[in-house]
Amino acid sequence: MAGKVNGKLTRFGVSVESELVRKFDRLVKLKKYRNRSDAIRDLIREEIVRERWKTNRETSGTITLVYDHHRRELLSKVNHIQHDFGSSIIATQHVHMDHHNCMEVLIVRGKARLLQRLAERLKSVRGVKFSSLSLATRGKEIV
Ligand code: NI
Repeated sequence: MAGKVNGKLTRFGVSVESELVRKFDRLVKLKKYRNRSDAIRDLIREEIVRERWKTNRETSGTITLVYDHHRRELLSKVNHIQHDFGSSIIATQHVHMDHHNCMEVLIVRGKARLLQRLAERLKSVRGVKFSSLSLATRGKEIV
């Protein structure tokens, strides 16, 4: 399956409909890639990261929360959930946005489903206005 190996790089040929290549080249230009190879490399990496999340592999990411800290019991609930998932949370950063609103960013690491469950638990707390899980990678799996 591998093509011509040159040092640590492998060259391989791909057959693609001309129309699709035309559209792809437009994207390559728009996103300021140096060439098709760089763009394809990124697409492959993105797909590997996505696949690891889908198949519940070890991975990492961030969870961003925005909440009103005046809401009754919110802080203790958010804190309680974070303690339940203590081994998955590497670091947290809390910023006071204004008199009411706080932003908290959690750097998380572990099995994909567990991290998704943590994000869902935090999102469902009353008073949490915004919660978003950003799917990242530990880095070593995408070369
Ligand atoms: Ni705050």
